[in-house]
Amino acid sequence: MASFPEYRPRRLRRTSALRNLVRETSLRPAQLVLPLFVRNGTKLRNPIGSMPGVAQTSPDELVKDVKRAAAVGVGGVILFGIPDTKDATGSEAWAEDGAVQRAIRLLKQEVPEIVVITDVCMCEYTEHGHCGIFENGEVDNDATLELLSRVSVSHANAGADMIAPSDMMDGRVAAIRTALDADGFSRTPILSYAAKYASAYYGPFREAAESAPKSGDRKGYQMDPANASEALREVFADIEEGADAVMVKPAGPYLDVISRVKDATGYPVAAYQVSGEYAMIKAAAERGWVDGERVMMESLLGIRRAGADFILTYFATEAGPLLK
Ligand code: PBG
Ligand code: ZN
Repeated sequence: MASFPEYRPRRLRRTSALRNLVRETSLRPAQLVLPLFVRNGTKLRNPIGSMPGVAQTSPDELVKDVKRAAAVGVGGVILFGIPDTKDATGSEAWAEDGAVQRAIRLLKQEVPEIVVITDVCMCEYTEHGHCGIFENGEVDNDATLELLSRVSVSHANAGADMIAPSDMMDGRVAAIRTALDADGFSRTPILSYAAKYASAYYGPFREAAESAPKSGDRKGYQMDPANASEALREVFADIEEGADAVMVKPAGPYLDVISRVKDATGYPVAAYQVSGEYAMIKAAAERGWVDGERVMMESLLGIRRAGADFILTYFATEAGPLLK
C-alpha cells in the first residue's frame, strides 16, 4: 500500500465532479419501499403522533399517497391492515373485503406501475396482539402456519405482487409457498422477514398498527438482538423453504447483519428502516438538533452500503426527489 506523500486520498475529493466519479454506493428511488397503514372506510386520515408525516388511511386516501410516491420514482409500497374488529384468530386478516384486500385491488387499477407488497402477520388482527394463535401464554407455531397461508393466498388473490411474512414462525415460508402454489400463485414471490429482531425500535409502529401485545412480549419468536450468526441460520432456512428475497429488520442497528447476509447468500436483501429509526430522526430534526434531510440520506446510504438491495422506509416519498 502506498503511503504519504505518494498517497494523498484528498486528491480525489477536491471537486464534486471527482467525488461523483469515485462514489462507491448509489441510491435510487426505485430501491425504496414505502410502508402504509390502511383501514376500511372513506376519506379517512388519522395521523400517527409518534411518526410525523405518517397516517392510517382508508383505501381511497391511500391511493393518493401511493400516486405521490410513484411520481417521485419510489419502487414499491408495503401494506399493513388495521381491522374493524379483532378476534382470537385474527379472521379479518383473510377477509375478502378486508382493508388490505380492497387496497390491493384499488392500487392495481389506479397505480399499476408500483410494486405492491403485503405484510403477512396476525398481530394487528388478534385481540391479544400476538403474531399467531396464542394459547397458555405462548404462540402456537404450527397452528399459526395455517392462518398465515390463508392470509397469503387472500393477498395474492387480490393481486399482491409480493408476499412478506413478518410473524417469525418456523416453517412459514414453506407453508406459504405450498399454499400459494396450490392455489395457482406459483409466480408470486415471497419476501421473508428472515432476521427480525425483538426490537424496542418498533414502538411507534405499534401505535400506527394498533398491534402492541396485550400481555408479554415477542421475545419467544423474534430474534435476540445479541445474535448475528443465528440470523444466517434463519436466512438459510427461509431460502431453503423457498424465499425469493430476505429481509433484515431493523436496519440501522443491524448493519453488520445486513452485510453478512448479503455476503453469505448473494440473494436479494431488503432492510427495514423501522418506525423508531424514523421517529428518532424526525424528532431530533424538529428540535433543530440535526439536519433532518442530511441525516435521512446518510442513514439510507449507510443501509445500502452495508449491502441492502432495497430499503423499506417511511422516508421513501421524501427521499425520492433528492435522489433523482
Ligand atoms: C408485525 C410487524 C411489526 C413491524 C412490522 N411488522 C411490529 C412488531 O413485530 O411488533 C415493525 C415495523 C416498524 O416498526 O416500522 N409483525
Ligand atoms: Zn406480528
